[in-house]
Amino acid sequence: MKLTAEQIQENWDELMEYIEKYISEPRKEKLLEFYEQYSERLMLMPASHKKEYYNAFPGGYVEHVLRVIRCSLKQYDLWASEGMDDSTFNIEELVFSALNHDLGKMGNEEEESYIPQTDQWRKDKLGEDYMFNEKVPFSSVPDRALYLLQSHGIFYTFNEMLAIQTHDGLYDEGNKKYLVSFIPGQKPRTSLPYILHQADLMASRIEFEREWLPKLKGDKKSLESGKENFTLGTKPNTSKKLSTKTKALSSFKSDGLKNMLDNL
Ligand SMILES: [Fe+2]
Repeated sequence: MKLTAEQIQENWDELMEYIEKYISEPRKEKLLEFYEQYSERLMLMPASHKKEYYNAFPGGYVEHVLRVIRCSLKQYDLWASEGMDDSTFNIEELVFSALNHDLGKMGNEEEESYIPQTDQWRKDKLGEDYMFNEKVPFSSVPDRALYLLQSHGIFYTFNEMLAIQTHDGLYDEGNKKYLVSFIPGQKPRTSLPYILHQADLMASRIEFEREWLPKLKGDKKSLESGKENFTLGTKPNTSKKLSTKTKALSSFKSDGLKNMLDNL
């Protein structure tokens, strides 16, 4: 899977539209400032560093987040239609949580989490275009997301904190304290964490299927391309790359990102 520079720009614009439409002041302004400040990084980030996971290609992060927002809104309708108590949280909390659930993947203020792979063997043989940046101290993705938001003065509600913190559901053992309890008073008071988890699960599963099912069907050509470093190593048609619409993409300061863009 690879996105053109135009698709990356369109996805970014769509993400900003969700903030404009669903997030209220005063935090809307702060959120837009934050996203603008880190737009270079966020726009081109992959959603993971390995193809075995999902959306490990330039622009994959935003593409994933958009799908999680869309799935969250659809899941909300489904849950509401089946009788969920929709007075326990609001749509802004739903969109804010989906928008920022994986924000911790961007790294810290100074360093990106995922940087271009420097080991040529791993690129060629394993198709790994990215690797973890060891300069970034370890933190779970939800913890870093919440840290980044609070350190930029973007407040979040208790419901949003819980949803972002537990968005991996029981795939993260640490979430058991919130999600595994037989005492009614200790269960989450809203369905928001479950909706976000289902939306994230749905999005990442679909992204996995898109990347891997054609290869797993045994088509030799697909298997070959699975090992190929096709997300960063090949050059699709870039004739539209520097159109006025992609102005933001052409003004990157980061050398790493420029290299990635050159390879798009
Ligand atoms: Fe996610």
